[in-house]
Amino acid sequence: MPDFSGKKVVVTGCSSGVGAAAVIKLAVQGATVIGVDRVASTDPAITHMVIGDLSTHHGVRAIADQITGPIDVLINNAGVAATLPWRTVLSINTLAPRDLTRALLPKFGPEPVIVTTASQAGFKWQQNFARLNAFLAIDDWDTALDSLADFPDIDTACYNLSKEAAIINSGNLAVDAKHIGLRSNSVSPGTIGTPLLADFTATMGAENIDGAAMWAGRHAHAEEIADALLFLASSESSWVSGADIPVDGGLSSMVFRNYIAPAMAAAAQ
Ligand SMILES: NC(=O)c1ccc[n+]([C@@H]2O[C@H](COP(=O)([O-])OP(=O)(O)OC[C@H]3O[C@@H](n4cnc5c(N)ncnc54)[C@H](O)[C@@H]3O)[C@@H](O)[C@H]2O)c1
Repeated sequence: MPDFSGKKVVVTGCSSGVGAAAVIKLAVQGATVIGVDRVASTDPAITHMVIGDLSTHHGVRAIADQITGPIDVLINNAGVAATLPWRTVLSINTLAPRDLTRALLPKFGPEPVIVTTASQAGFKWQQNFARLNAFLAIDDWDTALDSLADFPDIDTACYNLSKEAAIINSGNLAVDAKHIGLRSNSVSPGTIGTPLLADFTATMGAENIDGAAMWAGRHAHAEEIADALLFLASSESSWVSGADIPVDGGLSSMVFRNYIAPAMAAAAQ
């Protein structure tokens, strides 16, 4: 069991789904939990609730200003689907974790730990690495978002892109901040039975969402994703950094063997 006694952990998206499940588990394991969400949570597991909006640079700054250190762990978990405009999706899912992490870094104690909730939807992160790494290198949000405006089908591709970039950002942190003792990892779930699932069904199609669950046997429970977040947040993963861990009931292995590997083999001929 991970032990969070004496640890201060910040969890974004704490008021619903995976974040709400993580908060409860963290509190049971002794953590002081700082919850961040645009919707207030009254869960007593949250020691301090920060209500704010992660969809703008200003909103992220305002949230960071309300969090006092020393912090031990930041779990960048808040996320939205492509039911929202593409610039908002990339802002909340990618630029907010990037900049909240940057803003909070000076408030960390020794050995900072960052954990990001990504997604299996980000599985093409290596394919789009160059373009998304260039996007992540642009500090100004409007300029960064403008750089992706001509991406094909950006209105629907934005969720996948946002999670690809979130995985890349997590890996970059592991490399760039290793010298200060920071560890950074991401978790990539398949489908999860949370309120957000209805938005994925609307944007990705019931055939894909239900099909994934049918193959895996069911949607994940939010608690199962929270368990992976807590492992990566804890000292039990002390030598894990720069990793993106699938937590999807085997879905990604099936997709690789049955679809990606044959496509790669065909392309190589
Ligand atoms: N549900 C799924 O099938 C699924 C699959 C893969 C990955 N994910 C990822 O898991 C993470 C958690 O999602 P969930 O399924 O628990 O969804 P959820 O909707 O239950 O929870 C998301 C939380 O984020 C908060 N949030 C959204 N926009 C915000 C903003 N602008 N400012 C502050 N808070 C904001 C919401 O209020 C909510 O409490 C997300 O990053 C999501 O992309 C979900």
